[in-house]
Amino acid sequence: MKKKLEDICNRQVEREAYSSNLYLAMASWAETKGMSGVANWMYAQSDEERMHMLKFIKFINERGGHAIIPKLDKPPVDYKGVTEMFDEVLHHEKFVSESINEIVALATAEKEYALLNWIQWFVSEQIEEESSVQAIIDKLRLLGKNNLYMFDRDILAMRGAEGEAAE
Ligand code: FEO
Repeated sequence: MKKKLEDICNRQVEREAYSSNLYLAMASWAETKGMSGVANWMYAQSDEERMHMLKFIKFINERGGHAIIPKLDKPPVDYKGVTEMFDEVLHHEKFVSESINEIVALATAEKEYALLNWIQWFVSEQIEEESSVQAIIDKLRLLGKNNLYMFDRDILAMRGAEGEAAE
């Protein structure tokens, strides 16, 4: 794999790792606020992001590169509220999608077809992640701030259903 492609994939290792830590910070915040459904969703999301990071690490190394384990920025500790937190998740996922698109563009320009083929999984995954977070935000807006208890129970069921579907 060409050095510039290895570098952009290593940048993605860092971004997936940061995503995992960000959602872990959100899980911890939600847990301390008694929102166990939200915390459960965030813990599971954090695990998924770690899995994404591992996929990039393995791919880089298998293609003859060297995956670098990065130092990470500290994610925010406090969040204004659950709605604001999920708005932040969507914003972050859009940033990650853009980042994946940049890899697609570079792989295309450099005719790196193995990477181009491999990364399609991430293109689909980002579409799915953005739409599932948007659905959560829609639900939150529908229920309103006075129904957070109900939302917390609902989101617990959502992750359960997703987990079953994935098995
Ligand atoms: Fe791995 Fe949610 O981006």
